[in-house]
Amino acid sequence: MSVESNLKKLFSLEGKVVLMTGAAGGIGAALSKGMAGVGAVMCNSDVSEKGLHVLDDEITASGGKSRSFVMDVTNRDSIQTVVDAVIAEFGTIDVLVNVAGINKREGFMDVKEETYDRIMNINLKSVFFVTQAVVVHMMKKHSGSIINIGSHNATAMLGGCSVYGATKSGVVALTRSMAVEWAEWGIRANAVSPGHILTPLTQVTWDHPTRGNYLRDRIAMRRPGNPDELLGITVLLASDASSYISGANFIVDGGCLCGGMPWDFDSAYRYIGE
Ligand SMILES: NC(=O)c1ccc[n+]([C@@H]2O[C@H](COP(=O)([O-])OP(=O)(O)OC[C@H]3O[C@@H](n4cnc5c(N)ncnc54)[C@H](O)[C@@H]3O)[C@@H](O)[C@H]2O)c1
Repeated sequence: MSVESNLKKLFSLEGKVVLMTGAAGGIGAALSKGMAGVGAVMCNSDVSEKGLHVLDDEITASGGKSRSFVMDVTNRDSIQTVVDAVIAEFGTIDVLVNVAGINKREGFMDVKEETYDRIMNINLKSVFFVTQAVVVHMMKKHSGSIINIGSHNATAMLGGCSVYGATKSGVVALTRSMAVEWAEWGIRANAVSPGHILTPLTQVTWDHPTRGNYLRDRIAMRRPGNPDELLGITVLLASDASSYISGANFIVDGGCLCGGMPWDFDSAYRYIGE
């Protein structure tokens, strides 16, 4: 067998039906286009109808398969309507990718109850109830892969992200529950926790006079990640190549949580290659 066919056998998503929330955003669109590029049938959902149209056009123009479903992850009727529609059209959901998420940067003491509820509902409660609506179909066929987008803030913390961080720690905790409860049905669940990725959600941080440099100093690679750099791990987790991987949280952060920029250190090789 050729290298190409071996790789295809391992990682191809050919014919797999993938439901993604938050698909029209920076990370969602990159993942959706990338997954369609390796054969997935993408069922993209988002509150942004306009964003879904743009994504759908891009995927179909490059020969991929895509369908769009307007879904508000905070509304259980909306969730059920979309899941029913995907099942009616394709008969299955092989992979669920929970991407939808928001943040509002405010000090702990400044957060109003309304903001707390909104971030909790979109980032955490949605993962619970979207997954509940989907997993029943995975249980019936004894297979499925669930991928939840966590965050650097599930583990480490920046100022002004208290509610966001709590939701993302919760997403990683829910991922463990999913893995433990549904392994018996052949269903795997994993989290992908991005570090600092440049998207519409974070552009303001990278443009900020002090926060951009603060972040660069804390990332060993000294740059934000590109949404496409989350694709490899996502394809792995969606594919059969990860058949024994479940309950894990994969950190993709350019060397941030490991320590970021090194402090000054002595080495005879310090300036090699310069
Ligand atoms: N960008 C980063 O650096 C970073 C880092 C770690 C984790 N994340 C996580 O990755 C995910 C995607 O982030 P992004 O940077 O692409 O943000 P983004 O703002 O570009 O995309 C978020 C998407 O979620 C959608 N959305 C918002 N509310 C919704 C709702 N009620 N129902 C359905 N969809 C809704 C938005 O319309 C948008 O398309 C989020 O969960 C975020 O927390 C991002």
